[in-house]
Amino acid sequence: MKVKIVADSLAGGRLGYELFAKALANGSRVFGLATGSTPVSTYDQITASELDFSHCISINLDEYVGLAPTHPQSYHAFMQAHFFKQKPFSNSFVPNGLNPDENDETTRYEEIIANHPIDFQILGLGRNGHIGFNEPGTEFDSATHRVALTQSTIDANARFFADKDEVPHFAYSMGIGTIMKSKQILIEAYGANKAEAVQQMIEGPVTKQVPASILQQHANVTVIIDQAAAANLT
Ligand code: F6R
Repeated sequence: MKVKIVADSLAGGRLGYELFAKALANGSRVFGLATGSTPVSTYDQITASELDFSHCISINLDEYVGLAPTHPQSYHAFMQAHFFKQKPFSNSFVPNGLNPDENDETTRYEEIIANHPIDFQILGLGRNGHIGFNEPGTEFDSATHRVALTQSTIDANARFFADKDEVPHFAYSMGIGTIMKSKQILIEAYGANKAEAVQQMIEGPVTKQVPASILQQHANVTVIIDQAAAANLT
């Protein structure tokens, strides 16, 4: 793991942007994308830049089950607002949260990824060490699946919804095995509330209880964290 400690998320976003630019220049064509607050500073730098993704494909990590793409809190809507409106890809894939057939949706999405192997994957880190929506205990070789969100994740995401009761309890998510097949991974984490998960991801044992700890075994991972998120590192 290459660990880069920066002053704040703005500086992290600049570094994240540089990694995207370099990957693009080096021939990466399939980008795995995340939502949430963490990648926003990187996406802001990208959308303000000259980078061109019109010949590239994007594949998002996850989507809430039950939310239509038009729902303002859907990850479809997030990606439109923060990335695709300004920087369209030739094709963008996000799981279909309205597909009630779990088997059909997860198989369909896994086939998309098999047909378009991910060159560069950006991740955020959950406070409980999750990546994608792979909560503690998820098998390291998991493929795309339907996830029951933990209470801690529901609580963390409630800030985006008008009412806590509106937060969906399920999501479709790429699996950890799917994520680990990406050729290059960038994971960012900012703020004191990520410090414990960051320490466990980088210095802790590789354990299913901390899904991100498996990244220690990936050949090409860059971690960008701010001082607050780095506070627990020895
Ligand atoms: C989002 C995702 C999640 C988030 C994580 C951190 O697509 O897969 O794993 O990256 O929950 O969320 P934020 O960035 O909001 O702290």
